[in-house]
Amino acid sequence: MSGPPQSLLVTGASSGIGEALARHYAAPGARLALTGRDGERLAAAAAACRSRGATVETATIDVTDRDGLRAWIERIDDAAPLDLVVANAGISAGTGRAREDESAARRVFATNLDGVLNTVFPLLPRLTARRAGQIALVSSLAAFRGLPTAPAYAASKAAVMSLGESWRLQLAPDGVRVSVICPGFVTTRLTAKNKFPMPFVMSAERAAAIIARGLALNHGRIAFPWPTATASWLLGALPWRLSDALTRRLAGGKRGG
Ligand SMILES: NC(=O)c1ccc[n+]([C@@H]2O[C@H](COP(=O)([O-])OP(=O)(O)OC[C@H]3O[C@@H](n4cnc5c(N)ncnc54)[C@H](OP(=O)(O)O)[C@@H]3O)[C@@H](O)[C@H]2O)c1
Repeated sequence: MSGPPQSLLVTGASSGIGEALARHYAAPGARLALTGRDGERLAAAAAACRSRGATVETATIDVTDRDGLRAWIERIDDAAPLDLVVANAGISAGTGRAREDESAARRVFATNLDGVLNTVFPLLPRLTARRAGQIALVSSLAAFRGLPTAPAYAASKAAVMSLGESWRLQLAPDGVRVSVICPGFVTTRLTAKNKFPMPFVMSAERAAAIIARGLALNHGRIAFPWPTATASWLLGALPWRLSDALTRRLAGGKRGG
């Protein structure tokens, strides 16, 4: 296990899992670069991290702003070479049984997939040149099988999972570690709109502790909690007729997470 990262960047750190991860790593000597769109929430997250002794830099940037994000990330990495980047910012397209319209689906892909590319690509040449660093991509258990209630969300997270698995093997010879994070239900703003019971739901703080442990051990896939992770994996592995029938029954009106 390696020691905790000393210089890290988290997108979507203004709430939920990203904020909880920032707090988890906040300690004297740690340098945190945090971003999100909501300046007020981001400032509150930064203040909590500073109160734990960390040095914190913030920027309100939309992860779909490719040039803006690249400029900020390069500036952060110039100031203190990053040990860890967490591409966490993500959205779902809402709740209920209504079909995602095209613009909602495109927004989901722009944030959840392009946002990851916009976060990671500026750092790739730097990390490989240094032969060091770790990349964490936040996917979801929704990545394991297409969902009738959240098509773009599930597809965007499947893409992120595949990208991370590919990068992990591709970048390992260059000394760069890559992990894919697949949380089940976590209590955050994203799941606050879910109107259905969320099995094995956990707090963002607990999720952050599980993620940090998996990252320290350089696990390729950090999927949790195990009951929903196992069920999701099985759903994706079953023959399609059975998988379709079970997913139809299980998904009902559920979405996002
Ligand atoms: N909660 C769950 O059950 C669950 C399960 C599996 C995976 N996930 C994934 O975990 C990640 C974090 O979600 P969360 O549950 O913690 O939800 P959350 O509390 O809503 O946090 C999402 C974060 O992403 C940021 N964000 C959203 N769109 C953005 C954009 N275009 N540009 C920059 N930042 C943006 C938000 O910041 P602003 O609001 O300030 O823009 C916020 O900080 C997401 O990728 C989500 O898909 C969550």
